[in-house]
Amino acid sequence: MATKVILDVDTGTDDAVALMLAALHPEIELVGACSVAGNVPLEFTTENTLRVFDHLGKSVPVYQGLSKPIAREDFPVPRGAPNPGTTNVHGDYLDIPASTSTIQDTHAVEFLIETYRAATEEIVLIPVGPLTNIAAALRVEPRLAEWVPRTIIMGGAHHTGNLTPRAEFNIWADPEAAHVVFHAGLRNVTLVPLDATHKALVSRDDCAALRALGTPAAEATATFVERRIKGYDEGQPMSRAGAAPVHDALCVAAVVQPEIITTQDLYVTVETHGEVTVGETIIDVAGRSKRQPNMAVAFDADERAFVRMLLDTFAG
Ligand code: RIB
Ligand code: CA
Repeated sequence: MATKVILDVDTGTDDAVALMLAALHPEIELVGACSVAGNVPLEFTTENTLRVFDHLGKSVPVYQGLSKPIAREDFPVPRGAPNPGTTNVHGDYLDIPASTSTIQDTHAVEFLIETYRAATEEIVLIPVGPLTNIAAALRVEPRLAEWVPRTIIMGGAHHTGNLTPRAEFNIWADPEAAHVVFHAGLRNVTLVPLDATHKALVSRDDCAALRALGTPAAEATATFVERRIKGYDEGQPMSRAGAAPVHDALCVAAVVQPEIITTQDLYVTVETHGEVTVGETIIDVAGRSKRQPNMAVAFDADERAFVRMLLDTFAG
């Protein structure tokens, strides 16, 4: 039986690949997608999410979520071009045709609460953008923490951040929301930080193999990932040349193939103060805090298994 999942996305090139993997993998049933502000403002993340499903010819309900962080007027400090003069790995609108479908009337926060309240089967929650919608839902309905059986979050960094020296974008963009989610008492939480996503890069050769498949999903993935590779090659020294991470899709891959990531149970919290330290995930690898682990943290990933899954899923 297919595993049901809900994706919470700030679409985004890597979110787009995650959406396609979830929509097309035979062992996954994508129940719905919630949009949130992040990589681009909310109107773009919502439109891009609709575009992805229209491009695949798939009818998946899209619920629009929140346009601003839960406690701040905007991101912690104004966000300029991440690396001036280099390719932005997301752009604004995804490079596929404009949407023809429309969003649901229900707000994403209400959808999350009511779906999990009524659920009779396991639905895995996969937030791969700022945790704004999830934190808001937990604030409105704290019992959501008991109702969600499993959560796989793309976010955080132990070794190196991608926004500040130690902060990863999703956590940095709404640090208070991340703090709420990390300490809400959710069960079976897996955190997939940059440490893991940078172990599963997709290369230009992989893109050529995807493009050769000739399906809408494979061609779109090749286009999105080639854009990412250009951006990383120009301005992100943490990535191997000619290849880029596709962070969010790795979280979806881990639903059907958990061994694709290697995890350790650890205590994790979030720094919510300071211009340089805000958004940092403090991952207690040495047990110094003496706190019980609150999530499984991925530090490694199987790159070839990940690429194989993309090729197999997008082949037909
Ligand atoms: O830091 C990587 C994450 O930030 C990814 O989820 C990407 O889509 C952006 O949201
Ligand atoms: Ca994302």
